[in-house]
Amino acid sequence: MESLYERSYRMEMGEVHLPGHHLYMVNDPTVVKQVMNDNAGNFPKSQLLADALRPLLGESIFTTNGAQWQRQRDMMDPAFGQTKLDVAFPAMWAATQDMLQRLGRLADEGAEPDIEIEMTHVTADIIFRTIFSEPITGEAAQRIFAAFARFQSIAPKLLLPSLYGIKWLVWPWDVWRSRKAAAEIRGLLASLVRPRYDAWQRGEGSEKDDILAAFMAARDPATGQPFGFDELVDQVGMLFLAGHETSASALTWSAHLLANAPDVQQRMHGEARTVLGDRAPQQRDMKELELTRNVFRESLRLFPPVGFMARESTKTCPMRDKTVPAGSSIVVSPWLIQRHRLRWPEPDVFNPDRYDNDASRDALRNAYLPFGMGPRVCMGAAFALQEATLILACLVRDFRLEPVAGHVPEPVGRLTIRSANGVRVKLFRRPAV
Ligand code: HEM
Repeated sequence: MESLYERSYRMEMGEVHLPGHHLYMVNDPTVVKQVMNDNAGNFPKSQLLADALRPLLGESIFTTNGAQWQRQRDMMDPAFGQTKLDVAFPAMWAATQDMLQRLGRLADEGAEPDIEIEMTHVTADIIFRTIFSEPITGEAAQRIFAAFARFQSIAPKLLLPSLYGIKWLVWPWDVWRSRKAAAEIRGLLASLVRPRYDAWQRGEGSEKDDILAAFMAARDPATGQPFGFDELVDQVGMLFLAGHETSASALTWSAHLLANAPDVQQRMHGEARTVLGDRAPQQRDMKELELTRNVFRESLRLFPPVGFMARESTKTCPMRDKTVPAGSSIVVSPWLIQRHRLRWPEPDVFNPDRYDNDASRDALRNAYLPFGMGPRVCMGAAFALQEATLILACLVRDFRLEPVAGHVPEPVGRLTIRSANGVRVKLFRRPAV
């Protein structure tokens, strides 16, 4: 990510032309709004990317378009309403407690862990518990987790050539490896969903109040039909991926930023102690953790997990001074927009207090979209904010984070923005007061 040209952070719109394919990168807020919201119907999700993700995500909501997507969204949205967030909170706290114990052991050993591994573990645990009402400690869960890591490492090699319309550059070996990982994940997920699905069909097993139960109960508003088994597995797979990969990335970068900002960390520790004390956090505490939320917000600005979003133009259309041909890829990059030199004061500086001043209001409105925008906006944004606030507040309440001398993480665009060399931090237990 850091090899992007400085002028990319100043431009309003850029273009790349390859034989037979055109790609436009849009930063101008008016055009972004046009693509993502006002004329979203003319700019569906890129099928080039969907093809690369299909072996894993099938016909899931992340990649479908049009009436098929609308039906899925209508059926799935209720699973993420406020009442479901209340139900998810105990699962989030249980997984966070396990994380704190693991971190405590690492701190006692004097280790300098790659915090990305811990953040991936805790967020995968949370989404697993909220989908299936089980922790991720079982054997099947561990195998899913390992296969996801393999899929994640191969995916960029498939996604970027697909986006540029040069799929022939993809190695058949990588395609084979990604399909193998995807098939393993889907097989394992299907084996977890199957008994619940069959019980549900027999009219049993409705006692669980988890996401799987909500998806099985969902009905197409037009036909009254539920999800079929395969489509249900598609949605569960997508949710497992979308629900932990992004949050893990965001929390990892938050930890990195905090380790390098001792003053902010100390203030956040004070906030966590005042609001939470030594007791178990309650859901209602989350709204009191204002600085924690601003730290997360600022971390999502500097390191948006979804570094770019790809759309396809279905019609030839004007954009600024250009004519964009039908079939072009349109890329909207939160990474560029949220560090744009013309929109944000001190764009590369970590400053969680910036949201309290008026100068940032416009930028927030026009140049901040870590969860996307318009009809395809992230379905799990409130879920992500709740879990991140809880995890970060507990992390700084119980531990002090320091950077590891000489270690400088290198952001790279994979499925989400990760670090090529990990994100190592030193952890020190804080004494209970
Ligand atoms: C910090 C964490 C997260 C970030 C930054 C994030 C970001 C995003 C973005 C940018 C999109 C839109 C992509 C596009 O328009 O091309 C998206 C979509 C989506 N996200 Fe998230 N997400 C996060 C966490 C979650 C969680 C925790 C869940 C579920 C529990 C989730 C579920 C989804 C789903 C289902 C969609 C597809 C919505 C649709 O196409 O209708 N996300 N997310």
